[in-house]
Amino acid sequence: MKKVKVAVIGYGHLGKWHCQKVEAHKDSADFVAIVEKFPAGQEAAKTNHPHVKVVSSIEEVINDIDAAFVVTPTSTHFELVKYLIENKKHIFCEKPLCSNDNEAKILTEIAKKNNCLIQLGHSERFHQAWEILRDKFQKLAPPYSIRINRVAPFKGRATDVDVVQDLAIHDLDLLLYLFQQKPVEINGNGFKIRTKNWDHVSLDIKLQNACEAKIVIGRNSVKELRDLEVTSAQGMIMVDLFANKILEASSSQFEDGSFVREFAYQKRDHLLLEHFHFYDSILNNKPAIINFKDGVRAVHLVDVALRSLETNDSIKVHLG
Ligand SMILES: NC(=O)c1ccc[n+]([C@@H]2O[C@H](COP(=O)([O-])OP(=O)(O)OC[C@H]3O[C@@H](n4cnc5c(N)ncnc54)[C@H](O)[C@@H]3O)[C@@H](O)[C@H]2O)c1
Repeated sequence: MKKVKVAVIGYGHLGKWHCQKVEAHKDSADFVAIVEKFPAGQEAAKTNHPHVKVVSSIEEVINDIDAAFVVTPTSTHFELVKYLIENKKHIFCEKPLCSNDNEAKILTEIAKKNNCLIQLGHSERFHQAWEILRDKFQKLAPPYSIRINRVAPFKGRATDVDVVQDLAIHDLDLLLYLFQQKPVEINGNGFKIRTKNWDHVSLDIKLQNACEAKIVIGRNSVKELRDLEVTSAQGMIMVDLFANKILEASSSQFEDGSFVREFAYQKRDHLLLEHFHFYDSILNNKPAIINFKDGVRAVHLVDVALRSLETNDSIKVHLG
């Protein structure tokens, strides 16, 4: 296979950007089709990509493609991913992989029988900050305490899902990716403010070996905050994901006499990197950079967090 024959499913807010990234990888991707259910989106897709076939359902082009990007609302991921696996297509699925543990279990069974590459869109893993800090985080001696904020004023988007599925999933995935000590129990508290779903949530997470994490996620906040802070006997590291800055206060003074040092990291195009890795994995037989199991584990943490919110109880995590 010299080029991957690709369809993008869903021409909404993020689907438009995915289509641009397919176009940006002309050497490795052959843009076969855009699949969009509704006429307004189909018209926009035709205008912006006149050389690409625009259809209303994936069945119409399933025999013409090697791979598909699933960029539709979360409630549709399960059926689409199932259909694509059954048809032995490579899949890039935007987060989350599916809506709950039961769906993940079914997909796991089907995926075992088919040899397709499945990459998940946990795009927050692509911050350059993690390349600089992950090794340090992995070696951090317990106990340590992690605090993550991801809040913003109301934008009216993704209100069909709660903030755990839409936003906290990024941070739950980052916990698994960045730190050695894994979640063992989650206790959630939250509010339904503007929608019938959780709009503001606070998750208290017990990690292994007396470590802990607190994740605060909200879409009805007075200001925008996106940061991650880790504190231990070795000091504090704070990553401002908005300003692309790392701030560090060590257990001793820095060489220049200061108590806090600050440095900037490069802002990157996460979607472009995701596309690069997806085609590279397919064409060069490499494992997915963020794989199916990562997707299943993130869905499990979301499932546990939502059960905790609904029952007002702490719920145990079983990562498998
Ligand atoms: N990685 C990230 O940071 C990030 C950011 C935003 C959204 N997302 C994810 O991307 C997905 C899409 O989000 P969005 O904001 O673009 O949503 P959106 O509602 O703006 O767009 C979804 C599009 O899919 C179309 N659609 C629905 N069902 C379809 C089907 N069966 N076949 C074809 N088209 C269908 C809709 O008509 C719509 O145009 C969600 O799963 C969301 O969680 C990820």
